[in-house]
Amino acid sequence: VITKIIGRQILDSRGIPTVEVDLFTNKGSFRASVPSGHVSGMYEAVELRDGDKGIYLGNSVTRAIKNINEKISEALVGMDPTLQSQIDQAMIDLNKTEKKGELGANAMLAVSIAACKAGAAEREVPLYKHISDLFGKTNPTLPVPAFTVISGGKHAGNNLAIQEIMILPIGANRFEEALQMGSETYHHLKAVIKEKYGEQGCNVGEDGGFSPNLSSVQEGLGLVKEAISRTGYGERIKMAIDVAATTFCKGTKYDLDYKSQNKSGQNFKSADDMINMYKELCAEYPIVSIEDPFDREDWEHIKQFSELGLCQVVGDDFLMSNYNRTKRAINESSCTALLLKVNQIGTVTEALEVVKLAKDAHWGVVASHRIGETEDSFIADLSVGLAMGQIKTGAPCRGERVAKYNQLLRIEEELGDQAVYAGEDWRAT
Ligand code: PGA
Ligand code: ZN
Repeated sequence: VITKIIGRQILDSRGIPTVEVDLFTNKGSFRASVPSGHVSGMYEAVELRDGDKGIYLGNSVTRAIKNINEKISEALVGMDPTLQSQIDQAMIDLNKTEKKGELGANAMLAVSIAACKAGAAEREVPLYKHISDLFGKTNPTLPVPAFTVISGGKHAGNNLAIQEIMILPIGANRFEEALQMGSETYHHLKAVIKEKYGEQGCNVGEDGGFSPNLSSVQEGLGLVKEAISRTGYGERIKMAIDVAATTFCKGTKYDLDYKSQNKSGQNFKSADDMINMYKELCAEYPIVSIEDPFDREDWEHIKQFSELGLCQVVGDDFLMSNYNRTKRAINESSCTALLLKVNQIGTVTEALEVVKLAKDAHWGVVASHRIGETEDSFIADLSVGLAMGQIKTGAPCRGERVAKYNQLLRIEEELGDQAVYAGEDWRAT
């Protein structure tokens, strides 16, 4: 049984406060911490921050911690940690508001994840196995990693509007090999960038991708293509982009120069222009996935683009991991994959429900980090347990990012002969 829960404030990878929990049972203590992203809107669960501008610029989370140490502890101590849905429901019941703002989704998720780890220990099974059993009927599978190798948008201080260029070692035979392929490409890319832009071009964004000043996404894709060719892996490595188009949508136009002060407004594109650009990119580069190609409220063009069937179309800001938005997007065939950010939901049980919805619709599912991360590697186990097929957790660089990739190495080692790497079945549909 759960005997004690202690919450504390720690820092995330950006140096901003976040929530950590130690949850105790007769089996030991289990730690979890939660990530945080750029707030993307009204459909996601609310993280509770103190808002006192004099302390951590308003970002401290002491109220969330207090809720853990008082209300949540009171409700959960004495419960069986294997009963994940009952634990999560008990916390949901403590909130009078729909979006978890009262207790704080950050407080709830930290406890929910810690309980999940405790549940696995109680059952004496690995965490990914416990998650797989909670979900039912999945065969633990190592996901294809989408490594961010070039960062732009709101994740980096360069002038690239598009947020990320990623590489997917789909042709690897094992996760371990995928990680090696990703790391080697990353370091070849560093050399390519150094030759063209000097040392300064090798500075990295918040998720570890390089952030040279690029005048277009094509320029960035060209660098990555060159790096891949230097590795000799050829077609075994595919590419993906996260456009995060909501960030630079102005009315009905997209400002691809929004970060270049003296050029902003000169490179406005309509949604139809964007579709044409994506068609060209998919023809010229081995792009297999595009995330958030349009503004998050543009239901029409994302559908139009998905129907072309050029690549996987991922809804991140578009769906916000929200159950009802995902359901609507499935009904309207708006995109073809869900990006799952557990902190936009707030409990493990509800995260499993959204994944189930997406999988039943034969969508792809991508386990995702947030820009503000911690060393917690829960999403690695989650991606394996739910056989998602894909994980996106930044560059193969920086502690908080590689914490997840390193955990996947350990899981693959533990599974031994039983280990399955998603590889060509990365979309798991
Ligand atoms: P975020 O970024 O955490 O800043 O929302 C992640 C993503 O866009 O995929
Ligand atoms: Zn995104």
